[in-house]
Amino acid sequence: MKLTNIPYLASSSSTGFLYSSYCRGACRGRSDGKLVIAASAAGNKLAADSACSQLFEQENEDALSGPRSSCRYRRRNFASSILLPFLLPCVNISTAAEIYDGSIIRSGVRNVLTKAKAAGVLRLVFHDAGTFDISEKSGGMNGSIIYEIDRPENTGLNRSIKVLGKAKKEIDNVQKVSWADLIAVAGAEAVALCGGPEIPVRIGRLDSRAADPAGKLPEETLDATSLKTLFGKKGFSTQEMVVLSGAHTIGGKGFGSPIVFDNTYFKVLLEKPQTSSSGMAAMVGLRTDWALTEDDECLRWIRVYAEDQARFFDDFKDAYIKLVDSGASWRTA
Ligand code: HEM
Repeated sequence: MKLTNIPYLASSSSTGFLYSSYCRGACRGRSDGKLVIAASAAGNKLAADSACSQLFEQENEDALSGPRSSCRYRRRNFASSILLPFLLPCVNISTAAEIYDGSIIRSGVRNVLTKAKAAGVLRLVFHDAGTFDISEKSGGMNGSIIYEIDRPENTGLNRSIKVLGKAKKEIDNVQKVSWADLIAVAGAEAVALCGGPEIPVRIGRLDSRAADPAGKLPEETLDATSLKTLFGKKGFSTQEMVVLSGAHTIGGKGFGSPIVFDNTYFKVLLEKPQTSSSGMAAMVGLRTDWALTEDDECLRWIRVYAEDQARFFDDFKDAYIKLVDSGASWRTA
């Protein structure tokens, strides 16, 4: 689907909304209305006006010729000519240009995302947001991952950035999107695409222009106590750390199907296949995943989520929202 075909949705900007109302009202009922929609979404008032007046001229011709030359048509054109001068002064070009629509970002992401790419995209979210440090007031969900791609912990993530880069190019043609918003929305779409919860993601994050401090992401060798300390510095409780780790249920770490987001991660952790003598079983999971089972508090949450997938989905949704909002700076308009 081309992004220019996306139906216009109300924006948070009241003048932007007025502008779209004017276009929709004036061109309602015409399939060509999408021209106006596309132009107004891109903030191009001139293009929108010209498309709108083309449609009006066409409508006038239709009304004057042929069987549809009825009183109803003449009344509608008369009403439009009276109303338009009052509506036009409400249009503010600069505000129209600031329209920022989450559905356009979601559609752009859906055009490039597949189940096979979902795990890499979700991991990207953690590696962008996971640099957050409350006490240092640094890092977080700010798109800085694009400057950090050469760090060893980010190996392989360039593929996901490339995938989202394609979406960004498409979306930028309609409205400029920040990397931070794009990654946050894409992670939520990845979860939903694999059968996980629908996660509403607020938009309006600003991008950082430099890399975040290094050494903030967890190493694979950490034990549960160190993991708790590390997540605590980012504002996450033990429960939130355990539920977020459930993201490992998708991807290549061997917790069930790599493309199905469910609570298999927790079920497999309770089965403890790493203690099995089979070589295959020993390949399942990371050391940090098993470390969670050695801590009583973490184990309690693992049991809760292994027994109750709905609870896992609910808590994951909340923790994900917290993750993608951590350390974010927001647009003011
Ligand atoms: C608890 C601390 C965590 C550690 C130490 C950790 C580390 C890792 C490592 C080493 C991999 C394997 C990468 C590879 O195959 O090359 C991985 C995969 C993954 N991680 Fe984490 N991670 C952690 C938490 C998280 C969180 C909180 C999320 C998301 C909310 C996440 C999402 C993922 C995903 C989806 C994959 C699979 C990627 C794929 O197979 O393409 N991880 N993680």
